[in-house]
Amino acid sequence: MSEENHLREEIVRYGRLLYDRRLAHGSAGNLSVRLADGSVLVTPTNSSLGFLDPARISKVSSRGELLAGDPPSKEAFFHLAVYDQRPTAGAVVHLHSTYSVAVSCLCLEHTDDVLPPLTAYHVMRVGKLPLLKYYRPGDRALAEAVRGAARDHKAMMLANHGPIVSGKTLDEAVCAYEELEETAKLFFILGDRKTSPLTFEAVAEINTVFGN
Ligand code: 13P
Repeated sequence: MSEENHLREEIVRYGRLLYDRRLAHGSAGNLSVRLADGSVLVTPTNSSLGFLDPARISKVSSRGELLAGDPPSKEAFFHLAVYDQRPTAGAVVHLHSTYSVAVSCLCLEHTDDVLPPLTAYHVMRVGKLPLLKYYRPGDRALAEAVRGAARDHKAMMLANHGPIVSGKTLDEAVCAYEELEETAKLFFILGDRKTSPLTFEAVAEINTVFGN
């Protein structure tokens, strides 16, 4: 099987997994992977991640022109902005999962990092999570805001919308997304209770040892 066909199958497999885990619902969310020639496979617009067809997944150039498949996600341009800014990124995951979206709707004080470093795995997999202001889904200005934040962040939170998470592979990006959703859930479970987030030193040690 060619690398492209393998990655088409991977998108279908992870789409179904995210749908079955209830991290994706309806036709919300989109996944992409970057191919060796710089073009990108991205889920078609208005498709359910639980029922993707590998042959119909959209293939777009790095400039967003449709090369094959169905019309791409309206968010394809922010996926491309992440790839443009992060040469090591091979996959991008954007979902509207419940707890993360709930965080994105809060009136937040610290927009440079919207979740506290509650656990080591959140620090390792997600890192600093800035809040980007609200834009309409599919707005090219949203893609430009993502471009501005993506170089220094592998994950970003879109206000009143949800997270964008990148990784070297689709598996890595999905794992990081799941970690983020779990941290968002912990954040609400803990509520107003006094917590003990990791110290600055502990976060710095994790970043040094695990190379964030
Ligand atoms: P698409 O169906 O165009 O991928 O849009 C879904 C979505 O999640 C918008 O943010």
